[in-house]
Amino acid sequence: MRHTNRVIAGLFGLGLATAGVAALAQPSAGPSTGITFRNTVTGEQLDVSQGKEGGRDTPAVKEFFQTGKNLYIDDKSCLRNGESLFATSCSGCHGHLAEGKLGPGLNDNYWTYPSNTEDAGLFATIFGGANGMMGPHNENLTPDEMLQTIAWIRHLYTGPVKDAVWLNDEQKKNYTPYKQGETFPTDVKGQCKPLE
Ligand code: HEC
Repeated sequence: MRHTNRVIAGLFGLGLATAGVAALAQPSAGPSTGITFRNTVTGEQLDVSQGKEGGRDTPAVKEFFQTGKNLYIDDKSCLRNGESLFATSCSGCHGHLAEGKLGPGLNDNYWTYPSNTEDAGLFATIFGGANGMMGPHNENLTPDEMLQTIAWIRHLYTGPVKDAVWLNDEQKKNYTPYKQGETFPTDVKGQCKPLE
């Protein structure tokens, strides 16, 4: 009898321990997001806490995770960083100006996956990858760096303004297709600190 009790107590303890682990697992599942990010190809939900550490507590990332709105669009300090991040991680396949190379062009209004016209969709493609050579980039870019990269990709756009759904009305009014040769001073003011 005593033995049986101990077994039951043991099982009960195990149950508690499991519940404890489940409860603990919650916070490590990362920032709660107002919107759900899904893999561009499979539709599987992405866990934005996975991957390269850091870059999750900036005001821009917090806003983006809640609303999908990218505060870095048109911010010169972020464009300066985004240009360099894009050059390191993306341009080898997508071309220096995102004109397309091994990977498709990202500077026109044709998208294999129309979800990429929203910054949340573009983020999901960068974070979780797409088909073939388009692997996930969450191990080499933080969410904050992805938002900077997205701002740069949007800046490279040369297509019709009516299809630039990532721009608000004010930004649409000021839109001019990207022209080569623009440079940003390293100390340009804005939300993004120079990259280390
Ligand atoms: C090793 C080569 C390679 C690298 C590096 C790469 N891509 Fe890609 N990318 C591809 C290929 C190939 C595709 C087409 C995959 C598909 O259709 O599913 C693609 C597709 C995409 C698409 C979908 C475009 C559409 O028309 O819907 C986006 C967006 C994209 N890449 C962004 C990026 C960004 C941003 C980076 C850098 C962080 C990057 N890629 C790095 C090869 C690459």
